[in-house]
Amino acid sequence: MTFPVQRMRRLRRTEPLRALVRETALNPGDFLYPLFLCPGQGIRRAVTSMPGVFNLSIDEAVREAEEAASLGLGGLLLFGLPDSKDEQGTGAWSDDGIVQQGLRALKQSAAAKKLVLIADVCLCEYTSHGHCGLIVPTADGHDVDNDPTLDLLARTAVSLARAGADVVAPSDMMDGRVAAIRKALDSADRTHTPILSYASKFASAFYGPFREAADSAPQFGDRKTYQMDGANLREALLEIELDLAEGADMILMKPAMPYLDVVHAARRRFGVPIGAYQVSGEYSMLHAAFEKGWLDRDRAILESLLGIRRAGADFIVTYFAKDAAKLL
Ligand code: PBG
Repeated sequence: MTFPVQRMRRLRRTEPLRALVRETALNPGDFLYPLFLCPGQGIRRAVTSMPGVFNLSIDEAVREAEEAASLGLGGLLLFGLPDSKDEQGTGAWSDDGIVQQGLRALKQSAAAKKLVLIADVCLCEYTSHGHCGLIVPTADGHDVDNDPTLDLLARTAVSLARAGADVVAPSDMMDGRVAAIRKALDSADRTHTPILSYASKFASAFYGPFREAADSAPQFGDRKTYQMDGANLREALLEIELDLAEGADMILMKPAMPYLDVVHAARRRFGVPIGAYQVSGEYSMLHAAFEKGWLDRDRAILESLLGIRRAGADFIVTYFAKDAAKLL
């Protein structure tokens, strides 16, 4: 049966018809909203490269959480900007770290009952050198030392879980960190705390604006010895397989838009819940086009998220979470 009997336009004629045959849906509950916590009171410091994104003191973050809950968002992903940084990233794992304090405050709010509070586990916002692990000298310079870093990541995860994180999300890309974190959580009586592993995280130019938001740019070198090469799909699937074998409950892939084939391949291969992170650069480049009047803001926001869902992501970390929820 082909044209003129078959006419694809028949089912596109009215909005109710289009709605009836729509294959992919967006729901506010699928969106996770990143927050950047900073010390102080009453602080909402704009991140210049990310219009609409702020560094928030904890009181302001609680207000954001209330708005997020009232919009029906799925949850929050928490990052921290500590008072001071050092070589070991002490601010990440100390029990009075900024995210730990934020979690305790958020847990007191009514919003916390409606939101999943996810704590990012990494050292880069807390180290003076801006790398995601401990630095060791090598024959040709410096490198991030994998195995000693695992202990610090595990301590970070336990401390965040104790402070109230519903889920911990390691984003450092050290080998073996999921197993180390699972073991540490279990021995700290946190067998019920899930791990959302950033299983395939590519070394990407699209993290640029985040590094302003989180003040986490590496002070020397880059992250190519631990984050993945953007050319590699098979390797991404192996990363996921290994993280699942180590005990990851859910996986997160990032960036999203330039890597939708990876999301799709993971969806076909693995049964676990999959999230995709529409990262800072994806957000900022769309914003730049909105500001120039080159793209229709509302339609482009929803279309960008729909594409990520259609590729196979169950949930999306996005700086557009509130905007998209309002549009739906
Ligand atoms: C920390 C981390 C980064 C992002 C999330 N967790 C930065 C990086 O790896 O440099 C980027 C998120 C974004 O760009 O929105 N390791």
